[in-house]
Amino acid sequence: MKSALRLVAIGVLGLICAGGDRNAVPLAAQARTTAPAKAQPAKAPAKAPSAKEPARFGIGRPATPAEITAWDIDVGPDGVGLPPGRGTPADGAPIYASRCAGCHGKTGKEGPNDVLAGRLPGDAFPFARDPRAPKTIGSYWPYATTAFDYIRRAMPPDAPGSLKDNEVYGLVAYLLFLNELIPADASIDATSLPKVKMPAHDRFVPDTRGAPKPAPGAKSR
Ligand code: HEC
Repeated sequence: MKSALRLVAIGVLGLICAGGDRNAVPLAAQARTTAPAKAQPAKAPAKAPSAKEPARFGIGRPATPAEITAWDIDVGPDGVGLPPGRGTPADGAPIYASRCAGCHGKTGKEGPNDVLAGRLPGDAFPFARDPRAPKTIGSYWPYATTAFDYIRRAMPPDAPGSLKDNEVYGLVAYLLFLNELIPADASIDATSLPKVKMPAHDRFVPDTRGAPKPAPGAKSR
């Protein structure tokens, strides 16, 4: 241990010496030097020190399977990743009232935070022209499954991840009901949720432009 410490100390000292500018002048001497009358042409920037990176830094550890499982909760548009469980609008309503309404309003429309419910007349999609048009689950979201993923992952913001899967299913069902996307007695689960037809589904297209080109001069890794 002691010898390792000494090694580190020597290393640090070495760095300081190596970093020192060979042309450095003592401060007092610098103060006496008068500024050149004419501006010198700018020097080429000094090259970065080419210190070799070690193969390993020896920090961190492999994540355990349990840790990976806890993080691996994404739900795809097609419903892949949805857990077992189910919920109805009636299941979700009281949870919404106690844990969500304070920020999103009694019926998902009143705020003060994001408006969650409401469709536009004729399911119009004016968002490119009118940035103030309300983007709700019913007016803007292309996939119903996103509601499950997002609410389980992020809401309520003061305790994300605290809702049980059945509670999330109930909340999703209630929000879909408030958006007039499912009837009041519908049961939402891993099979039925991906089948909910979203008005904005066909308003989004896959981006076929390919991978972005690196900026000119950018170093490839
Ligand atoms: C403390 C206030 C607060 C509470 C409580 C809360 N939310 Fe939110 N919610 C927010 C804020 C703020 C955002 C916007 C977050 C952002 O844009 O990053 C948001 C965003 C959302 C969105 C995405 C809206 C969109 O269109 O992008 C959904 C869905 C949502 N919340 C559902 C819920 C549900 C369900 C609950 C109850 C379990 C809940 N929220 C509780 C503050 C809250």
